[in-house]
Amino acid sequence: MVLARPAFVVAALGLAACAVFPDLDERALPATPKHGIVVCEEAVAAAAGLAMLERGGNAVDAAVATAFTLAVTFPEAGNLGGGGFAIYAPHDERRGGGGRRSAVAMDFRETAPAALTAEMFLDDGGELDPELANRSALAVGVPGSVAGLFELHARAGRLPWRTVLRPALTAAREGTMSASLRWKLTSSGMRERIERGGGGGTFYPGGDYASGGGGGEPPAVGAPFPQEALARTLERIARDGPDGFYRGETAQALVAGIAARGGVMTLADLDAYRAIPREPLRGWFRGNEVLAMPPPSSGGVALLQALSILDGFPLDQEREATLATVGGDGTSGISGRAVHWWIEALRRAFADRARHLGDPDFVDVPVDELLSPDWIAARRISIGERADAGVLPLELALPDAIGGGADTTHIAVLDTDGNAVSLTTTLNSNFGTGIYLPAVGFFLNDELDDFAIQAGTPNQFGLIGGEANALAGGKRPLSSMTPVVVRDGGTAATLVLGARGGPRIITAVFLAILRTEVYGETLAETQRAPRLHQQWSPPQTFLEPGWDARVVQELRNRGHAIEPTTTRTAGLSGIETTVGGEPVGVPDPRNPLAAVGVEDGGVEVSRSVHAGDPRWAAATRGDGRDVDWELLERAAARTDR
Ligand code: DON
Repeated sequence: MVLARPAFVVAALGLAACAVFPDLDERALPATPKHGIVVCEEAVAAAAGLAMLERGGNAVDAAVATAFTLAVTFPEAGNLGGGGFAIYAPHDERRGGGGRRSAVAMDFRETAPAALTAEMFLDDGGELDPELANRSALAVGVPGSVAGLFELHARAGRLPWRTVLRPALTAAREGTMSASLRWKLTSSGMRERIERGGGGGTFYPGGDYASGGGGGEPPAVGAPFPQEALARTLERIARDGPDGFYRGETAQALVAGIAARGGVMTLADLDAYRAIPREPLRGWFRGNEVLAMPPPSSGGVALLQALSILDGFPLDQEREATLATVGGDGTSGISGRAVHWWIEALRRAFADRARHLGDPDFVDVPVDELLSPDWIAARRISIGERADAGVLPLELALPDAIGGGADTTHIAVLDTDGNAVSLTTTLNSNFGTGIYLPAVGFFLNDELDDFAIQAGTPNQFGLIGGEANALAGGKRPLSSMTPVVVRDGGTAATLVLGARGGPRIITAVFLAILRTEVYGETLAETQRAPRLHQQWSPPQTFLEPGWDARVVQELRNRGHAIEPTTTRTAGLSGIETTVGGEPVGVPDPRNPLAAVGVEDGGVEVSRSVHAGDPRWAAATRGDGRDVDWELLERAAARTDR
């Protein structure tokens, strides 16, 4: 509904503005979206969120229901044993008041157990042992998801807690094997990781396998796949809230399972865990307010730095000149010179990440300075016409590659009141450490690899760091997760974005904002366009296939080390709308089974959303026809039981 704006009417009559300028409460709010949308990476979980919206729940109810359901239907990344971040942006925001009318950046990142030290991860020669950092019980951070989802819901949810847990419970009790999970279970390396971690009996049943009944094949797509232990855990959480996880039976099973594998997490570590509601970072880019995650995420700072640096370059003139001469890719007016600026901006932001960012409750993170006009201007001035791989050298070794696969997943929700939730959750690697606790039915994260456990030694993503991100008991490892909400003129949400992909998350979100705001592309067009990735170290820039050859040549001419990559660089889930318009959910075509739920419109998978775009027709992950549409109906229908 578009309301009149009394303030402006009165001002036009020539009355003294100071006397009549109303309070925010009295002022008209921007129009709200025409329908609600949920975007995530799995269809049953999208249906769960949608069911909340259709029952009168808000974006928070939907995001929380979707996150819990992903823990059942998408356990490669959806989780109870991991952590994440969420940005909540209410439509009628009142700054600083707390509660449901204030935006919040919910930090439910895992913490290091109190007794953990960096030395525990070193081999006999004093070198970091990647096996310990990624696959052992030492790598497991104190999980944050249950506390974070509870806090978010308590602050701004509308439906009862039990109701938002209901779809996940139904999916756990009555679930069938999804195409997406089966695809993952049969992909390279997963059987070994899961059977070794104790999940063989659940995910590869049928054999008489010493490690817990595995050795068989995963159930066929659509075959019954109830997860009873997980259902019991969810039931305890539904009944007791965080106490159903951080205390009692679940906590005891967690600590016992970790201790049996040589970990050091205690009941006291679990009991002490708290999600932290933080003030979101607020930056501006081209008339839009960008609400982003502060440390211990590096995502918000790096994104805002890169956008701010670029904002001083003549992007529009360059685009117009390119369109006029068709010297770029011929469609969006993206030239090699502009992409050179993008890369150099990213390089500087990632250099600052490595040096300055860490958990603000343990180290002094100079966020204000890193985002200050002087700091940004200095970085801008340092960018010339040629690639500059020597920027801001840290005295740290340079790895020669970035790491490959791993797992995380993003949920974007917008409701008809205009409230937005952007929530990223992760176990870090696929199925985390691979350690699965049959008694409670979930996987444990390997998030502590995100610390710079040994200064200068790269982690699985090739990221290096120093003191700011050193490991310490109780501390949160630095993250790249970048949930954002972009608001038109600081009011209505027009983009809700986030991604999977380690450091590539930051570049994926950066590219989506840049391409929509500067190059006039729709979010769907930005999703289908090839991405690039640059993270300062290593110095190369990685390009997905499909870039215009002239742009690539120009980058090489300017001295850029360009490396083609066939690794899909990230997976972005997003929503785009105009103020008061019809919001569009845009899953990433790189995952054809990612899903969009539209209020009063049902659920659709990415494969059909992007159908007709030949570039993505051959995407490999399953087939929309394999989605368990019946379970989806049941999960949605039974939420009110
Ligand atoms: O928090 C982080 O930055 C990482 N643990 C995220 C891992 C990730 O995105 C892997 N995804 N594909």
